[in-house]
Amino acid sequence: MRIILLGEPGAGKGTYSIELVKRYGIPQISTGDMLRAAVKAGIPLGKQAQEYMKKGELVPDSLVIELIRERIKQDDASKGFILDGFPRTVTQAESLEKMLQGLKLSLGMVLKIEVSKALLLKRLSGRRVCPGCGTTYNIDTMRPQKEGICDKCGREIVQRPDDRPETVENRLVVYQKDTAPLIEFYEKKKLLRRVNCEGEFEDVMGRIYAAMEEVAKV
Ligand code: AP5
Repeated sequence: MRIILLGEPGAGKGTYSIELVKRYGIPQISTGDMLRAAVKAGIPLGKQAQEYMKKGELVPDSLVIELIRERIKQDDASKGFILDGFPRTVTQAESLEKMLQGLKLSLGMVLKIEVSKALLLKRLSGRRVCPGCGTTYNIDTMRPQKEGICDKCGREIVQRPDDRPETVENRLVVYQKDTAPLIEFYEKKKLLRRVNCEGEFEDVMGRIYAAMEEVAKV
């Protein structure tokens, strides 16, 4: 299955993708993770992207479209994939449509993660990430076993630079302006499923699986 997880910054796209990868055996493709890896590696793409990311702005369409064009052709994506953070503009969505048509593939669904603004702000302010392995935690809801230390690699967990309050506000504004129009875009194509993603993690996953399995039956 090929699915898109659509939702505001901090909605839970990365967290839920990891569970979907385990259950369905298809890769998560996160443009945010790919761009952060490029920044860390100091390659030209990372240098270009960093300026936008630290202000909470979107990286230019042309850069992320090329990333995705190459990534979805890789062998591990042949049976499907979970797009996390892409597309984020109508231009990106139209390009994805053309790419998939060219490969004679189609999208299964667009899962819209529904979370209130108050909860988004709480999830973002509580998020911590491991700079070594990238594992995500939350100091309110998903704590590591030992305070401040990554369970997997023992590094100290940190706040993502773009999770600081001044940047978060801009990311939410950018989402409303550039990304929210995708809701109507995919509604018109009858691909959009809204799922309430507030509440306990297991309950949320149950609702996500139910939505996915309903679509798989059709
Ligand atoms: P990206 O990394 O994609 O950031 P984002 O979309 O803003 O999403 P986040 O990673 O902030 O949140 P998430 O929804 O994955 O939430 P998470 O699962 O961590 O992009 C970063 C930047 O890269 C962009 O600003 C832009 O500059 C650039 N970029 C990326 N893609 C681009 C594109 N296509 N075009 C142009 N530019 C692009 O969850 C949040 C927290 O909540 C975590 O701490 C988690 O543990 C917790 N949590 C989640 N669900 C639950 C639950 N049910 N119960 C308890 N805790 C929960």
